[in-house]
Amino acid sequence: MKEYADMSSQEFREYGYKMVDWIASYLENIEEFPALAQINPGEVKNKFPLTPPQNPQPFEELFGEIDKKVMPGMTHWNHPGFMAYFNSSSAGPGILAEFLSAAFNINGMLWKSSPASTELEEVTMNWFRQMVGLPEDFWGIIYDGASASTMHGIIAAREQANKFNLRQKGLGGWNNSPRFKIYASEFAHNSVDKAVITLGFGLESLTKIGMDEQFRMNVEELKKCIAKDKAEGKIPMCIVATIGTTSVTSIDPIEEIAEICKKENIWLHIDAAHGGNSAVVPEKRHLTNGWEMADSIVINPQKWMFMPIDISIFLTRKRDVLRRGISLSAEYLKTDQDEEVKNQMDYSLQLGRKFRSLKVWFTIHYYGVEGIQNIIRNHFKLAEEFKNILLSNKSFELVAPLTFSTICFRAKPEGIEEKYLNEFNKKLMDAVNETGKIFVSHTVAAGKFTIRVVISGLRTNSNTIKTATDLFNKKLNELLRDKK
Ligand SMILES: Cc1ncc(COP(=O)(O)O)c(C=O)c1O
Repeated sequence: MKEYADMSSQEFREYGYKMVDWIASYLENIEEFPALAQINPGEVKNKFPLTPPQNPQPFEELFGEIDKKVMPGMTHWNHPGFMAYFNSSSAGPGILAEFLSAAFNINGMLWKSSPASTELEEVTMNWFRQMVGLPEDFWGIIYDGASASTMHGIIAAREQANKFNLRQKGLGGWNNSPRFKIYASEFAHNSVDKAVITLGFGLESLTKIGMDEQFRMNVEELKKCIAKDKAEGKIPMCIVATIGTTSVTSIDPIEEIAEICKKENIWLHIDAAHGGNSAVVPEKRHLTNGWEMADSIVINPQKWMFMPIDISIFLTRKRDVLRRGISLSAEYLKTDQDEEVKNQMDYSLQLGRKFRSLKVWFTIHYYGVEGIQNIIRNHFKLAEEFKNILLSNKSFELVAPLTFSTICFRAKPEGIEEKYLNEFNKKLMDAVNETGKIFVSHTVAAGKFTIRVVISGLRTNSNTIKTATDLFNKKLNELLRDKK
């Protein structure tokens, strides 16, 4: 038996070059694959043996296996026609950075355990902050997703509001305790609900505030809820406002909400997971007006800045509050540098962490800020293009205003009663998705089944817009014809 059990460097080179070739061809020819996997549950699983191979198999075989067994089960997020959810597409520099990150395989829990990772994260978070135009007192850290970022925002909010030694005693530590309150709009992402459940506050602590006709949080209702809760002895602790709701990319009235937070001493966390990326484009900064007043903000470059999943950036101007709320050490983690460095473990639930800042560095280095601005700027233009072509057919209508680059619409053809429109639009969406040429998803807004077309994929271009609008018109006509 070999003592050194890894692949030989000769093998690594051979397969590594081959893998890079495979990836390059895949990305080059991605449009040959359907955007949405055309497959039934279980079909991937059934291609694999029930038990693992007992003996080494030729590595070479894996290339064929990926083609045969994995590819048919892939929904291709990098496909230009992938316009569902919030698209996350990856660019070459980030893919290569992931490769390097896996090779280094560091654990950045402490400065000492990986000085380069800790310090490069600090550098790139400072770059990113500047790129989106936030003030110098915002400090950033990378988490694995916006759900984790929002949870850390609420942890810090809890620490700020904490009058009961909560960290020590927990929520059950005193009798008849006032209930902490968290507020978010009805369209806030359900990661807020999850954080509230996970942190033990319970869903009754979360008040979902109604929205105006443009799906923005109703500030008057928010004020009333806060006043009522205070009168009942509850403690308003955190408001989560959204810049770019998942459903329709609406923007809560940030400036007014920030004023309330200031007056009431409530933590303001802003979920700008998708929308926040657009602040890199100077002429779009008005969309994020007021966010500089937040206590914490989450922005996911994996959603609109072409960095491979997973990367979520959490920015806060109250780093010390977060640290107080979550840091914990142990003898084996103590180092001589603890007084002079920032150990990432002190600011996150996660202890071990990978070298994620490499992909931030590589991406910014490769494109430059201007390159990134131009790609995102083009998405805004493509979204306008999509909207104009779509609405030239009077059978379509917008359900929500176009704010970023997500078009929320439905078909409302003459002759179909309102009560049948939801079912009709679901059929339209399914028919379009079944072609495999594009993949779109939906929401329900004001009771209306709404099709969302998200234009934030790196490879989405004018041809994709034409394909998509042609498809919607064609499938609409087919459905109407079938109805006759
Ligand atoms: C506005 C918003 N916030 C949070 C999330 C959760 O993101 P993640 O999957 O990174 O946890 C999403 C997901 O789409 C989102 O749209």
